[in-house]
Amino acid sequence: MNVLVTGGTGYIGSHTCLALLDAGYTPVIYDNLSNSSIKVLDQLSKISSHTFDFIEGDIADSKKLKATFEQYNIEAVFHFASLKAVGESTEQPLSYYRNNVAGTVTLLETMQSCGINKIIFSSSATVYGDPQYLPIDEQHPITATNPYGWTKVMVEQILVDWCKTDYQHLAIALRYFNPVGAHPSGLLGESPNGIPNNLMPFIAQTAVGKREFVSIFGNDYNTKDGTGVRDYIHITDLAAGHVAAFSTHQNDSGSLVYNLGTGKGYSVLEIINAFSESANIEIKYKFAPRRAGDIASNFADASLAKKNLGWTAQLNIEAMTDDTWHWQSKYPNGLE
Ligand code: NAD
Ligand code: UFG
Repeated sequence: MNVLVTGGTGYIGSHTCLALLDAGYTPVIYDNLSNSSIKVLDQLSKISSHTFDFIEGDIADSKKLKATFEQYNIEAVFHFASLKAVGESTEQPLSYYRNNVAGTVTLLETMQSCGINKIIFSSSATVYGDPQYLPIDEQHPITATNPYGWTKVMVEQILVDWCKTDYQHLAIALRYFNPVGAHPSGLLGESPNGIPNNLMPFIAQTAVGKREFVSIFGNDYNTKDGTGVRDYIHITDLAAGHVAAFSTHQNDSGSLVYNLGTGKGYSVLEIINAFSESANIEIKYKFAPRRAGDIASNFADASLAKKNLGWTAQLNIEAMTDDTWHWQSKYPNGLE
């Protein structure tokens, strides 16, 4: 089965292409390269000995999408393409609504006009806002605290409504907790542009000498050591979650939601310590004020995915920091 992977040269999409290929699907990558490198294609080929078909295109370009759907006889879409920087979304909300929401509407309209009924959507644990209880299950009320988060809430609603219009429509929203790590080969990983917003790439760049120290945003939270707690999930497990969700439900219909997380929470200090062990380097840090909009703790109840999909995260925190370090030390400047 040929499937289209929007955002397929990005961090999560590229790893998921490998998992899809392993599971017998043929992923066709569709990306405008706004936040990824064309060199990802070479890395994917080195890892898999497979040449991935790639279309440089934007999800807003209905004509190009349609031509791609027809050329490859696409049967389902894995939709990763999105802008994802929370801070930037507060400065440029309209770009986020245009790209993430309007872009998804164009994608769905084009799928519909070509008779493609199945979509797997990258949602986020950000839709739970400040958790009312932990661990967070899929029934937890959803909301948002910034435009990026609202784009995820809005697209989830659009998918629910889209599924109501045709009994053949299938939409699976996967709510990721904190994706980290890299391909075990060290050939593929996350390389954010500019100064990383997220903890793991910031630690990795500090370890490799590109940053002087990590600022820990707050040490007075009501957590085990006062620093923020998150549910970090290895990118390999996250990719496997997509395959499990699709292979389980590909003949079903309706709108479905799954958390993809480990169910375990680690503090910022625990992550820094684990990374120091992996890299065998002391990672300097300083305590800094809390970051606006941050929450104390966040971790998943991932039991629904276990029950329905037979999926659980397999890789522990050491694998996450080992693989991040392997990639970062091999490619200190990413693929550029
Ligand atoms: P990424 O930026 O590495 O990948 C996104 C890809 O989409 C990039 O390659 C980019 O060039 C492409 N893209 C963006 N807009 C496009 C458009 N209009 N047309 C075509 N391509 C476009 O990000 P990622 O970390 O791989 O995230 C993938 C998805 O997962 C996103 O939807 C993101 O919001 C979601 N998500 C990510 C995280 C995380 O922490 N990384 C957490 C939760 C959810
Ligand atoms: N942190 C630091 N220093 C840093 C960066 C982060 O102390 O330099 C702390 C944060 O305060 C937080 C933890 O590390 O306690 C994790 O922060 P990240 O920025 O890595 O991740 P978030 O949980 O804030 O958010 C991420 C994505 C969101 C997504 C969310 C849930 O950035 O887009 O996970 O999936 F919505």
